[in-house]
Amino acid sequence: MTINAKKYLASLCSGLLLVASGTPGALAADAQELLEPCTACHGENGASTEKDMPIIGGMSAPYLTDAMLAYKEKDWPCHEVEFPAGPDKGKKTDMCTIADDLSEKDIEKISEYLAAQPFVRASQEFDADLAAKGEQVHDASCKKCHDEGGSLPDDDSGILAGQWMPYIRQSFEDFGSGDRPMTKKMKPKFNKLEEADKEALVHYYGSFK
Ligand code: HEC
Ligand code: HEC
Repeated sequence: MTINAKKYLASLCSGLLLVASGTPGALAADAQELLEPCTACHGENGASTEKDMPIIGGMSAPYLTDAMLAYKEKDWPCHEVEFPAGPDKGKKTDMCTIADDLSEKDIEKISEYLAAQPFVRASQEFDADLAAKGEQVHDASCKKCHDEGGSLPDDDSGILAGQWMPYIRQSFEDFGSGDRPMTKKMKPKFNKLEEADKEALVHYYGSFK
């Protein structure tokens, strides 16, 4: 290859890099604006510091998209929630109303952005004996789809390790009552759990720091 050809290739490559890096930058700015109304509850970049609000930064984009579409369709329960902080403090809303205000394109942008953020584990108290029991239950019944304590975003099954314990408890209630549908193969495993197993699992997920 001649020197000129090499130079040409080099400039072509840096040009492509510029184009490639320009687009995600604009997308991120868009997503940050869309996420503005979420921060009062889910924290900066989805790293919720409120024990009743799930941490959502760092989950996979397909999981987040499915979750928000499920709220939009009211397939998941539309619990009434109160803004714990910010200008709307004390006002009530629910995730279905929030998701309904977003277009599918917005949901995709938000999901891509959140998936690129770290999952910042909650700082919370747990019972070590219960957590040890929970690990056994998890490994026997849940590990297949929630590997490494449910810490891998690529399982597309949410993230359980380090999630706020009250949110996990609420999810268990919603699955148990049938208000939130379960994926076909999770259902038989979940329905076999005793109440004590569920509480042990909550402490196991809460034990990840
Ligand atoms: C007023 C508080 C509040 C606001 C504002 C809010 N959320 Fe939520 N969100 C919640 C709560 C509480 C839950 C847990 C489920 C429930 O109680 O409905 C939740 C659940 C979720 C989940 C599912 C988490 C999981 O683990 O499956 C996603 C995703 C989500 N919210 C995204 C968003 C996005 C994106 C916005 C902004 C556009 C937003 N939320 C705004 C309170 C809020
Ligand atoms: C066959 C695969 C599979 C098995 C087994 C399974 N799950 Fe799941 N689980 C999923 C998928 C997929 C999702 C996300 C989609 C959904 O909520 O329907 C999920 C979601 C969840 C959530 C909600 C996460 C969130 O952020 O809201 C919890 C909690 C959960 N599973 C707990 C369990 C427990 C506890 C067990 C074992 C008793 C278990 N799962 C077994 C596939 C599985």
